[in-house]
Amino acid sequence: MKAVIPAAGWGVRFLPLTKEQPKEMLPVIDKPVIQYVVEEAVEAGIRDIIIVTGRHKRTIEDHFDRAFELESVLRNGNRQALLDSISGLHELADLHYIRQHEQRGLGDAVYQARHHIGDEPFAVMLGDTIHVSEVPVVKQLMEVHARTGKSVIAAERVPGEKVKDYGVLDAVKLDDRLYEIRDLVEKPRPEEAPSDLCIAGTYVLTPGIFECLENTPPGHNGEVQLTDALRLLRKKEGMLAWEFVGKRYDIGDIPGWLNSQFELALRHPVYGEKLRQRIRELNEQERFI
Ligand code: G1P
Repeated sequence: MKAVIPAAGWGVRFLPLTKEQPKEMLPVIDKPVIQYVVEEAVEAGIRDIIIVTGRHKRTIEDHFDRAFELESVLRNGNRQALLDSISGLHELADLHYIRQHEQRGLGDAVYQARHHIGDEPFAVMLGDTIHVSEVPVVKQLMEVHARTGKSVIAAERVPGEKVKDYGVLDAVKLDDRLYEIRDLVEKPRPEEAPSDLCIAGTYVLTPGIFECLENTPPGHNGEVQLTDALRLLRKKEGMLAWEFVGKRYDIGDIPGWLNSQFELALRHPVYGEKLRQRIRELNEQERFI
């Protein structure tokens, strides 16, 4: 299976940080966000990945390219661990890049990949979402798709006040984690949200989505929304949601990014203990203020 990683948005919620720097390249501990996404795909057995970029996103390609000079500096300095951390990036997967020339929304970004994907089911993994899970979340969806042949969306329950920031599902539970989707709505007003079960940013879709995208006019925010095209696809082919097993970190805005850094740093084998120690110290000092 191939994967599409849409990474073409402006990242306006991070300005001025993302004026020239893609939000997908923001650091989380020691790696840019998009490296986590590519690694999740690779762990799920996906080898062919198309990243949809835009005008100011060239550093994404550079990150997954070879850096001979830097490699030789590290090799000559016997800095093996650091060398290992960069030398395999160019062969993680077959990475392809396509530019979305106009930022017309997530749906339009996915549509740009249609020729590369062809007539097969494929995964969509948002370029700003990291998971910590035993089985990669995209693999969980691939397994549901293999069993059912249907498009399937990763879903997550979200606290009430945050539902308005998501695509929201009207869905009927089939078993423990599997739902039949009846409808989808992009960023509804709180009183219009059909549930608190939200679209979490990972999808396995049939190629029928491309025809649906062709027939999807601009929606929320004047952009072509993937969620609106999914509504059409569901009507034609049916659609499932999978409440995934694992934890999702959304690097969609500054609080989300800070929280991801903080929690992932606490889990980190090298930096975790140092951070806990520092938090204890700050706590102590606070008592004297
Ligand atoms: C996008 C999708 C939305 C989904 C969300 C998950 O919105 O349009 O349906 O719930 O990702 O992060 P965005 O966060 O790009 O505004």
